[in-house]
Amino acid sequence: MLKEKIDVKEYAKRITEALPQGVLLNTNGDKFNSMVIGWGAVGTVWSVPAFTVYVREGRYTKAQLDKTGEFTVSIPLEHPDPAINRACGSKSGRDIDKATEAKLTLVPAETIQTPGIKEYPITLECRVLYAQKQDLSLIPQDIRERMYPQDVDGTNPMANRDAHTMYIGQIVDAYIIK
Ligand SMILES: Cc1cc2nc3c(=O)[nH]c(=O)nc-3n(C[C@H](O)[C@H](O)[C@H](O)COP(=O)(O)O)c2cc1C
Repeated sequence: MLKEKIDVKEYAKRITEALPQGVLLNTNGDKFNSMVIGWGAVGTVWSVPAFTVYVREGRYTKAQLDKTGEFTVSIPLEHPDPAINRACGSKSGRDIDKATEAKLTLVPAETIQTPGIKEYPITLECRVLYAQKQDLSLIPQDIRERMYPQDVDGTNPMANRDAHTMYIGQIVDAYIIK
């Protein structure tokens, strides 16, 4: 499959617009897995191009990230696919195979071991430079109460009780899968 290299800066607007609708954070530890993320940032950290993601403790994705130290981010060119968002954003890779469930076409990456996805073709290959768990006590109270309620079940795939761990990934390659 062809890959057209891109300058990430030129896609910053598209990436920023796509995030709240859901883009994919892919990992490849014990197996390939893809999860929907709505939070993230493209920019510069320590003078290198970087993509930062926020992953709650209980996600299968977190275990995979901690094992491999790398991820790809896959962004649709125009609209998110509701079927992909449903499969990858409401179920855990612990319970299902998301590539099969969401009918994803995996495309081997150029410089890391985590594939991209043909259906969401804007692809960022990232190596984790830094991971840090959020300290809930430092988060403004109104946001903490809204985003991290402690009186809910922490075990279901959509649980929102846990803190996020921030992963800063150095963008080591960026392209559109054709
Ligand atoms: C639009 C949308 C945005 C989401 N954003 C995030 C996010 O930024 N961080 C996070 O930890 N979970 C987020 N989630 C929840 C995960 O996608 C969901 O819990 C998923 O089932 C985790 O999959 P995993 O257990 O295979 O890693 C989001 C879900 C949706 C639908």
